[in-house]
Amino acid sequence: MPAAPSPRILILGATGGLGRALHRHFAPKCETVRWGRAELDFERPAMIPEKLAAQPFDVLLNAAGMTSPDACEMQPEIAQLANVTAPQILAECCQARGARMIHFSTDHVFSGELHERWVEADATQPVNVYGRTKRDGEMAVLQASPNALVARVSWLFGPDKASHPDHIIQRALQAAELSAVEDKISVPTSNADICGWIEQLIHAQANGVWHLCNGGSASWHSWAEAALQIASVIGLPVKTTSVRPIKLAELAQLKALRPLMTVMNNAKLQNLLGSEMRHWREALEDYLVKNYRAP
Ligand SMILES: NC(=O)c1ccc[n+]([C@@H]2O[C@H](COP(=O)([O-])OP(=O)(O)OC[C@H]3O[C@@H](n4cnc5c(N)ncnc54)[C@H](OP(=O)(O)O)[C@@H]3O)[C@@H](O)[C@H]2O)c1
Repeated sequence: MPAAPSPRILILGATGGLGRALHRHFAPKCETVRWGRAELDFERPAMIPEKLAAQPFDVLLNAAGMTSPDACEMQPEIAQLANVTAPQILAECCQARGARMIHFSTDHVFSGELHERWVEADATQPVNVYGRTKRDGEMAVLQASPNALVARVSWLFGPDKASHPDHIIQRALQAAELSAVEDKISVPTSNADICGWIEQLIHAQANGVWHLCNGGSASWHSWAEAALQIASVIGLPVKTTSVRPIKLAELAQLKALRPLMTVMNNAKLQNLLGSEMRHWREALEDYLVKNYRAP
């Protein structure tokens, strides 16, 4: 049987951390177009149908959205446009032309109350505007396009945008006194690994809600110490590898509430792929060795 032709892919959020990683992954394999805010502004949702109509594609990867919980809390109308209204219109357009939409969402859809690892079917109960708009966006996308796939991800890291491990390493190059929150728990996840999983989900024609995360779990504190230990082993002149644990409640500057325990269960993905997702430490080591070790 001849192999199925590669789908033409349109990536939104091309200036973001995940959007950049998706483009690097897919561009060598298939026809790939990337759009940032300059090409499609979610704050002007009426423009979406016309813009999409002029662009050929088979699969739309939506990695765009308002992703800062504090910004969403302060500007809920813009969060609604970026995380709900625009994704809904994108899904309607995809449905009308027979294209598939893959929409990225978040572990912030969960309440964060103590719980086993959250599975896809668990009830959502967001505690902030970011989580509520992302949850409403998921529902709007799936209602408009039943073939769409919602990929919930958590605590992303990778070479395209500095995140927690990069920030803590930069701080440890300057100072020996560091602190990080120990009572907020989720799963650090490699953007590069997500790209591979998305490719397989596209080939499997999967739809519905999926949890895409590496194995294990961490707090911001244990994630920070792991990053510093790896940094030290690969020869970065960090001034410490130990971090003082603090409580989330001590971070008075945060505008939005944060859910405490949002570790997601990735068994559904594991069953589809027939293998375990690697532990986040292994993925983190891979990232830091490739991007920080001197040649
Ligand atoms: N990063 C994480 O740890 C994390 C955790 C859980 C879930 N997620 C989800 O994963 C997805 C990708 O996250 P990310 O970390 O790659 O996000 P990111 O780096 O913040 O990138 C967001 C992208 O969305 C674009 N965007 C924002 N507002 C827009 C608007 N009004 N119109 C058009 N584009 C707009 C940004 O463009 P500009 O560059 O112009 O602002 C950027 O390209 C999001 O759905 C996020 O909710 C991320």
